[in-house]
Amino acid sequence: NGEMLPWTGQISEVFSPICVKTKDGLKRKRIGSYPVCTEKESMEALDAAVKAYDNGRGEWPTMSVADRIACVERFTQKMIEKKDIVVKLIMWEIGKSYADSVKEFDRTVEYIYATIDALKDIDRDSSRFQIEQGIIAQIRRSPLGVVLCMGPFNYPLNETFTTLIPALIMGNTLLFKPPKHGTLLHYPLLEAFRTSFPKGVVNTIYGRGNKIVPQLMQSGKINVLTLIGSSRVADELKKLHPRVNRLRAILGLDAKNAAIITKDADLDLAVSETVLGSLSFNGQRCTALKIIYVHRSIAQEFLKRLSGEVAKLKYGMPWEKGVALTPLPEVNKPAYLTECLEDAKTFGAKVINEHGGETKESFFYPAIVYPVNAQMKLYREEQFGPVIPVVPFDDLEEPIEYLIDSSHGQQVSIFSNNAAVVSSLIDPLVNQVSRVNVNSQCQRGPDTFPFTGRKDSAEGTLSVVDALRSFSIRSLVATKNTDKNKK
Ligand code: G3H
Repeated sequence: NGEMLPWTGQISEVFSPICVKTKDGLKRKRIGSYPVCTEKESMEALDAAVKAYDNGRGEWPTMSVADRIACVERFTQKMIEKKDIVVKLIMWEIGKSYADSVKEFDRTVEYIYATIDALKDIDRDSSRFQIEQGIIAQIRRSPLGVVLCMGPFNYPLNETFTTLIPALIMGNTLLFKPPKHGTLLHYPLLEAFRTSFPKGVVNTIYGRGNKIVPQLMQSGKINVLTLIGSSRVADELKKLHPRVNRLRAILGLDAKNAAIITKDADLDLAVSETVLGSLSFNGQRCTALKIIYVHRSIAQEFLKRLSGEVAKLKYGMPWEKGVALTPLPEVNKPAYLTECLEDAKTFGAKVINEHGGETKESFFYPAIVYPVNAQMKLYREEQFGPVIPVVPFDDLEEPIEYLIDSSHGQQVSIFSNNAAVVSSLIDPLVNQVSRVNVNSQCQRGPDTFPFTGRKDSAEGTLSVVDALRSFSIRSLVATKNTDKNKK
């Protein structure tokens, strides 16, 4: 409710994935701490959001679009002033390279301004009247109520703001819980929120989601749940809502994006895009390529070139120039990835690149695993880390069948120089996933493009215009077209 509360409850320590020497050996560096909200405090934050919305009568939901835009612009200016510290915190908290942390920040600012421009267009349309069947109609976009907003650790600023900002600017009030890895970096922005928006519009709560979020859902006072995270968590939270059928959910969830490399592909391009797609930010992207289908006739050559390119990647500390591979923030991730590699070996696969799968401190050296088959964890599970499972195929029906059987449906990449082959794949694939990439890795951007997924991969659509639509309703003012009304 626009107040910084004293720390009353438990304190959560924050450790960086970056290790430092201690008397007990190399250990993750402690970089800060934050207060964990008590149940009472998080319910008070919810009540503040409910009160600020006031059933749509509050200052914020009734404010003109121009004034709401002015508040967001003011916030953005203050956010830009904090760039240096926010970028450093992204780097320290999640181990993202300095260059990519800067990109994350800049991309977020660009996203906010693109959202403002898109809202101006929507608002211009809303001021027009249309006359049909004796009705003068004005179509507006109105807010939905109280939004619970939770972002992911891999884009703790950017992906959080791709839901938070559109939800906010459409006139909703917010309860916002930063991700577990990526909490501290939001701290410098709290003051900007506090001084840019009316009281109770943005309420930030801290703590473990499984402890403080269930009661918020059970209250029935959340109108929109927005989460970028796992489908399991999203399903569990939705179930807690007493009127789940009335809850709007805007979700970005699990994915297991595949690449299909046909025998007539440009191999150098397929290799470089596979490296980017599978290993950018150590493979910790929902859009990452998480399984590679390669035609058996070119598999050996592909693996040779892929191993060569992976070997060239520099790994080191996030601030080092040109670094590509950095420490992993999730403490249990190296053990999980090692378990996946062991499992794959049991079923006949090998790690084919030198050093693949070696761990040191919180680093995990990328592993290329071949030949992967349906018995292995890596075939279906979303590894979300630097492991590249490669499956040889003889017939294009095999990867198509894989995608049809999959519980995920975000994106796919096709690599081929044969236009007829590409065309023959697009139709069957576009009905399995929400984006088919041709001769390119999978990715979310450009951010003005619709971003969604089928099956367990998403609910609702994000991107600039789609997000504004997702966090609002189209409402109508309809006036009977009589002579008197015309005046
Ligand atoms: O982690 C999921 C993000 O939406 C990925 O975004 O494709 O721009 O890296 P990106």
